[in-house]
Amino acid sequence: MDAIEALIGRVSPAGLGPPGPGDEELRKILEAAAAAPDHGRLQPWRFIVMAGEARERLGEILAQSLQRREPDSPPARLEAEKRKALRSPLVILVAAAVKENPNVPEVEQIVSAGAAAQNILLAAHALGFGGFWRTGAVAYDGEAKRALGLEESDRVVGFLYLGSVVLAGRPRRVEIDPLVRRW
Ligand SMILES: Cc1cc2nc3c(=O)[nH]c(=O)nc-3n(C[C@H](O)[C@H](O)[C@H](O)COP(=O)(O)O)c2cc1C
Repeated sequence: MDAIEALIGRVSPAGLGPPGPGDEELRKILEAAAAAPDHGRLQPWRFIVMAGEARERLGEILAQSLQRREPDSPPARLEAEKRKALRSPLVILVAAAVKENPNVPEVEQIVSAGAAAQNILLAAHALGFGGFWRTGAVAYDGEAKRALGLEESDRVVGFLYLGSVVLAGRPRRVEIDPLVRRW
């Protein structure tokens, strides 16, 4: 796929299913992630790859986080939260493990992790898969971060759900001109 076509044509699919990226494709996707702009070459990224049964652990973590936030959640709501982890065959959690650095403030390291996340979506798209980006309150839940193997100080940038597109997304038309000031 042409690079510009991939950049402009990416949309979040409405539904994903198997198959997800295989090992070689996943390697390429992660290489694309690690090619993100990285001030100071700090590599402040964490990529947690969850496929197959590992997604069930993620589902538990999502449901436990919801229960902590909303202890009265009915079982059906908790079950639905759990099932979110199964929305795609592969989930990649992207986080920024921010490092103390006199020249590279925290925001730049988080932005770099955001660029890595976008590279993941674009690489998946270029390889013929679909992907969508989710956060939600769990991304800011310290206990959930620990359960995911992160430090509480790590910043979750997103959960990227990847797989084959079973339901296409809605193409967007963004009016560019109002967003731009020409000097
Ligand atoms: C950091 C970040 C977090 C997001 N979190 C959510 C989310 O939790 N739930 C959601 O519905 N969309 C979320 N989105 C937006 C979608 O991923 C998506 O970009 C949006 O629905 C627009 O669709 P498109 O990707 O087809 O343009 C998030 C986007 C970003 C950049």
